Amino acid sequence: MRYFKTSILLIFLIILILGCSTNHNDQDSTTSELTNEINNNEKNKENSTEETDSINEEHVDHFINDIDINDDASLAVLVNKERSLSENYEPEDLVPVEVPTVLENPEVNQLRKEAADALKNMFEHAAEEGIYLNARSGYRSYQTQVSLFDSYVSQHGEEAANLFSAKPGHSEHQTGLAMDVTSESVDYQLTEKFGETKEGKWLYDHAHQFGFIIRYPENMEHITGYTYEPWHLRYLGVDLATKVKESGLTYEEFLAKEGIIHEVHQ
Ligand code: DAL
Ligand code: ZN
Repeated sequence: MRYFKTSILLIFLIILILGCSTNHNDQDSTTSELTNEINNNEKNKENSTEETDSINEEHVDHFINDIDINDDASLAVLVNKERSLSENYEPEDLVPVEVPTVLENPEVNQLRKEAADALKNMFEHAAEEGIYLNARSGYRSYQTQVSLFDSYVSQHGEEAANLFSAKPGHSEHQTGLAMDVTSESVDYQLTEKFGETKEGKWLYDHAHQFGFIIRYPENMEHITGYTYEPWHLRYLGVDLATKVKESGLTYEEFLAKEGIIHEVHQ
């Protein structure tokens, strides 16, 4: 009887030990499955991050490769003291802007369609935030720029005129993608003080969201060729304008950084 009791106890102990070890194995296998799953998830995450990164890189590559600074009709066309438009270039899709304007000459109250739509959208968003903007000078033909530049030269001399007015063929206004913007707070004039107004500051912060850049920033005349013009907005499209804004560079410097042009000095 004593042997019987001891045997029962032994069997019970063996079952207990085997049971524990089986549970332990189960736990181990659950833990290792979890570990595998986590590792797999991490790998999948890494793979998907790599995929997203490479898609983004491809997007940026295509995006940068698609920038055409040489075609007069390209939204990205580069016009400055070194690079001019052809004398007879006139955009094919000029439309009157549908925003408050300052001047009566219908020519300068036009922009290319895409830029005109973006300007309207921007002015409407600004107005919703209590910022009221006026368009002063948009498209200017080659001939209009001839008259304007000549009149500045006769008033101020050629050296001074060159700092704030482009020679015919060298003005972004001939692209139909530039608009000088002002407000009541500066009596609808084009003055550096505009940059300190709430309207000028709003444009500085938000213009890129609508596809525009402030083309002639402060203290960058050695690059852009012109003194500070907080009012001169150039349409590039939202993607490119945002890239330029985020770079903190002038358009010339941005293009040089991307290897699209070599020289940035004017
Ligand atoms: N004020 C700018 C530089 C122009 O005349 O186009
Ligand atoms: Zn301008």
